[in-house]
Amino acid sequence: MTDGTLVERVKEALRGAGQGNAGEGSVPAQLVQELLKVYSAQGEVVEAQQNVMLYIRGLIHDALADLMIVNSSLELLQGWIETRTHDPELTEIGVIGTTAVWRIDPLLGLVSAVCQGEMQELELNPTYASGFLGQYQAEWQHAFTTRLRSRRLNAQDYSLQISVPEQYFCVNCNNNGLYHVVQNLIYNAVDAFAEARLPRGTISIGAREQEVSTQQEISHGTLPAGNYVVISVSDDGPGISHDILSKIFEPGVTTKKGMGGSGMGLYMVRRMMIHHQGYVHVVTQATQEEGSKGGTTFELYLPLVTEFS
Ligand SMILES: Nc1ncnc2c1ncn2[C@@H]1O[C@H](COP(=O)(O)OP(=O)(O)OP(=O)(O)O)[C@@H](O)[C@H]1O
Ligand SMILES: [Mg+2]
Repeated sequence: MTDGTLVERVKEALRGAGQGNAGEGSVPAQLVQELLKVYSAQGEVVEAQQNVMLYIRGLIHDALADLMIVNSSLELLQGWIETRTHDPELTEIGVIGTTAVWRIDPLLGLVSAVCQGEMQELELNPTYASGFLGQYQAEWQHAFTTRLRSRRLNAQDYSLQISVPEQYFCVNCNNNGLYHVVQNLIYNAVDAFAEARLPRGTISIGAREQEVSTQQEISHGTLPAGNYVVISVSDDGPGISHDILSKIFEPGVTTKKGMGGSGMGLYMVRRMMIHHQGYVHVVTQATQEEGSKGGTTFELYLPLVTEFS
C-alpha cells in the first residue's frame, strides 16, 4: 500500500531532482521521467481497482434483493409443508434451504463491506449529513451512470445533482446502510425516466435541518414532533401513480415486472429507515395530472443529534 502524502513528497523530490536542483547525488533526468511514469501507472491501476469494487458492490446489492425473495418464498413454502403435509423429511429440507439463505445474506453483506475497504456492522454512529453526502457523492454518480447505461439512456441527457450542505447537522447513522437507501432511490428515479421514455431528467439530492413542532401526518405514517435532518432525493420524472402509491413500501410491489424489478427496493429503504428510527415521506405528482410537470421527492427524516460525542 502507498501513503498518498509520501507518494506526493517523493514525486516532488523527483521533480526537483529532474530539474537539477537536488544538490549532490541528484537522480538523472531520464530515471526521474521513468519513475514518474511508474507512479502515474500505479494511480491508474488503483482507480481501475476501485471501479471493479464499485461494480461488485452493485452486483451484490442486486443479489441481496433476489435473496430476500428466495427467503420469503422458502418461509412460505416451509409453513405450507408444516401445516399441510406434516412430512418431517420435507420440513427438514425446508429448514436446510432457509438456513443456507441466512448464511449467504451476511456473507454478501460482508463481501460488500470488504469491497468498500472497511468492515462495517449495522451499528449507528454520529455522522454529519454533509460528511455523509460528500463521502458518497462519487459513488452515487457512478451508480447513476451505470444505471442509465443499463436502461439504455444517454448519460448526456440526464443529471444527478448533489448539494452538500455547509451547515453541520448530525445524525446517528449506519453509513453503508444509508448509502444503499439513497442508491435505491437513485435507481428508482432512473428507472422511472426509462419507463416513461423521458428524453431528459434530473435527480437532486440535498439535506436540511427541520424542526417539527407538532406531530404530523405524512404520506405513509405519522411523524412525531422533534428536530430532524431531512435528506431528500427528488426527480422530475413521471411521478408515482395513485393506484400503487399507498403500497410502494410493501415487499413485491413493482411496475417493472419485465425490467427485472422485484419490488424489494423501497421495502429495504423503509426497513433501513426504521433501523435508524427515521421516517420516509413521499411527495409525488403524476405527469398526466392536468398536463402538469411530474416528479417525485423522497424525504428521509432522521432524528437530529445535538451532541457529537
Ligand atoms: N422515483 C420514482 N418515480 C416513479 N415511480 C417510482 C419511483 N420510485 C418508486 N416508484 C414506483 O414504486 C415501485 C416500487 O419501487 P421499489 O424500489 O420497491 O421496487 P422496484 O424498483 O420495482 O424493484 P427493485 O427495487 O426491487 O429492483 C416501482 O416499481 C415504481 O413503480
Ligand atoms: Mg427499486
